[in-house]
Amino acid sequence: MTSQELRQLFITYFKKNGHRLIPSSSLIPENDPSVLFTTAGMQQFKPYYLSLKDPFKDNHLSLGEPLKSRNIITCQKCFRTTDINEVGDRSHLTFFEMLGNFSFGGYFKKEAIQLMFDFLFKELEIDEQRASFTFFSGNNNIPSDEESYQILKSLSIPEEKIKQGKEDNFWGPTGMIGPCGPTVEVYVDGIELWNLVFNEYYFNEKKEYQPLKQKGVDTGMGLERLTLITQFPQDETKTIFDTDLFAPLMDYLFQFLPQDQEGLKTARIFADHIKSIVFLLSEGILPSNTDRGYVVRRLIRRIARFLEKYQLAKEMIFNLVDLVVAMYSLEYPEIDKKEEIKKVLLDELLKFEKTLARGLKIFEELIETKEKENQKIITGLEAFNLYQSYGFPLELIKEMAQEKSFSVNEEDFQKEITHHQEISRAGKEKKFGGHGLKGLITTPEQEKMVKLHTSAHLLLAALKKIVDPDIQQKGSDINSERLRFDFSLDRKLTDKEIKEIEKLINQKIQEGLEVNYYETSYEDAIKRGAEGVFKERYPEKVKVYVIKDKEGEIFSQEICAGPHVKNTREIGKFKILKQESVSSGVKRIKAVIEDN
Ligand code: ALA
Repeated sequence: MTSQELRQLFITYFKKNGHRLIPSSSLIPENDPSVLFTTAGMQQFKPYYLSLKDPFKDNHLSLGEPLKSRNIITCQKCFRTTDINEVGDRSHLTFFEMLGNFSFGGYFKKEAIQLMFDFLFKELEIDEQRASFTFFSGNNNIPSDEESYQILKSLSIPEEKIKQGKEDNFWGPTGMIGPCGPTVEVYVDGIELWNLVFNEYYFNEKKEYQPLKQKGVDTGMGLERLTLITQFPQDETKTIFDTDLFAPLMDYLFQFLPQDQEGLKTARIFADHIKSIVFLLSEGILPSNTDRGYVVRRLIRRIARFLEKYQLAKEMIFNLVDLVVAMYSLEYPEIDKKEEIKKVLLDELLKFEKTLARGLKIFEELIETKEKENQKIITGLEAFNLYQSYGFPLELIKEMAQEKSFSVNEEDFQKEITHHQEISRAGKEKKFGGHGLKGLITTPEQEKMVKLHTSAHLLLAALKKIVDPDIQQKGSDINSERLRFDFSLDRKLTDKEIKEIEKLINQKIQEGLEVNYYETSYEDAIKRGAEGVFKERYPEKVKVYVIKDKEGEIFSQEICAGPHVKNTREIGKFKILKQESVSSGVKRIKAVIEDN
């Protein structure tokens, strides 16, 4: 049986049993701002479970008319990041289709369990011996679901095939609040296939479980998993990637990837991610550094690294896009936007290319050093630097680490992120001369701003050395084009001085000096001779960025939130465009950087 036939059988069976088929909703939830993506079929029906909408009177959000039935089915496109680290095993995916039947006051446990039972074991004729079930056995807040247990038993399912479950057998809510309840989970060949949720509670803002006015049914069965257990019954060697929902992509990928364990895993992740990318981009989501955009970016970057690792041409991705669109455009005509999707993909790949290559080099060096020292852990800070300076998503760092038998200190990585966000927020509010740069440096524009930012430190140091050690920075402004730098001086710089300053800065750039930082209290930083801009408003701990020259002498030392380049050589060529006078005591320099 093909996956297409299975979809159709599900629809026909439930229609016959009094359900109305409603189209899949968008992957961007329309009525639930508390979640980024549609992760389950029930999301578009949340208001019906909560009795906020009447299925017969109120218009459904995207349908433009009432549901006209209390019993509904959908084949819903879903996207989840929760299982992203499992992708590549037998049954986990980021994008998948969920077949679901729902009821808001039409039927409850008895009918729902019966419908599931008849569809799997009578309609599809799956051997009952292959199945097992779990039900909710209660916790401190909610009693055990004895009712479901009794219903399962009444279907002559042997007792040993019905197991008690706890956390996993309670579902919801999606987001912070909403309907939720105990579940019955159906396993076939050991694979979790179908989840039957009995919405009896409302989880509210106060984190309490309130009984729902009207009880409801919400079920979800992964089409990919259903296809696996039907196409390959009782065959543990097969995975969802062997089904017809993946075969065309896998066959294509194996023309380019080695047939070993690593190649196989790569093909699986690649195939999963490209599907998600096509579906997400088709919804108009663009790669960015926040929310949904960052999720897409992460997926694309993981693929970018596969391209680099196996030396694959970018064009192959376009063929994969074509394949995905061909596989799904009948069910989801909205994805038929090949050219738009390819353009966004290509732009994003090109943007990442340069930083990826540099980041990989840094990563290799890091691993080499650590191996010499017999270390097997990448610290949070090291991972954070790869993330911040080279835009490596955490999954990517983890994956690369794993390949070298290294692990990543994720907890410390998260701490670094939080710490950096706090500093960055303060910086943005210009509390201490902020430049508005966020933690994640990924676009060429942002990279340029980071370079200009480090140049500003070099400039202050050069001014002090060449013109007057008492010069103070009076402000700075950086955008992706140029640096504007104000400093205290009651006369204009001479042309000769300007030339000398430029020369000294470029010399320091060419020397390839490391840019490092340490953390300490503000007082201590000042004692050690660090520059600070607005003294009165520093946080308890400050970062001090230090650039030492070849002899190990401090050339520049400034209290600053960062971010900066790791090595001055990254900056390129520094050029002063002009000087202006802001007031009698303050002068301004405008400068740019150029690629070498
Ligand atoms: N909403 C339930 C799930 O996603 C069926 O598992």
